[in-house]
Amino acid sequence: MNYRIAPSILSANFAKLGEEVQNVVAAGADIIHFDVMDNHYVPNLTIGPLVCEAIRPLVQVPIDVHLMVKPVDRIVPDFAKAGANIISFHPEASEHIDRTIALIKEQGCKAGLVFNPGTSLHYLDHVLDKLDLVLIMSVNPGFGGQSFIAEALNKLRVARQKIDASGRDIWLEVDGGVKIDNIAEIARAGADTFVAGSAIFGAKDYQTTINTMRAELAKQ
Ligand code: DX5
Ligand code: ZN
Repeated sequence: MNYRIAPSILSANFAKLGEEVQNVVAAGADIIHFDVMDNHYVPNLTIGPLVCEAIRPLVQVPIDVHLMVKPVDRIVPDFAKAGANIISFHPEASEHIDRTIALIKEQGCKAGLVFNPGTSLHYLDHVLDKLDLVLIMSVNPGFGGQSFIAEALNKLRVARQKIDASGRDIWLEVDGGVKIDNIAEIARAGADTFVAGSAIFGAKDYQTTINTMRAELAKQ
């Protein structure tokens, strides 16, 4: 299994974001997870395309933009131009899910669909073959540092079955409350891509934390 670790810069020090992003990639991050919040779809406000554009030249790894915004479509081209590689959105935030997926792909990015803890996986039924990534939220979106919601493990198992049945190379990402002590169990439920914000940026030594996460994953 090819596991990927995606530090969420939501928990980074924004006063020195460029340095933080470079340090976490040097520490072994596979992906940068970029949380976009609009104080409308979620009750918090974070960063936009200008910040994506600013960090883009600093690292080679993919930038995984998690849009927690409503509406979605207007902002997609801006993130594509700013260098995003993957753009994910919540089905509740788009009036036309299939159209938004097509828009992301037309802009040259990989497309992901994100499922809140209370959102049914039925949204996958007619679009799975167009997706590159399925993101299961294991907290309600809006804040870092929340506790992992155990029901996400059941949802990951169902999503894993659907992805395997599709025969396509679709990443199964999990976001929220991922730590050293639960990452192995989450991997057993089927996730292959792990967002971790506070667990990595809240630690003194990013490299030790990422290495320990990989060691836990290697036990699978
Ligand atoms: C929450 C964000 C997450 C957040 C995760 O809405 O989507 O990416 O940064 O933070 P931790 O890993 O601290 O739960
Ligand atoms: Zn996120």
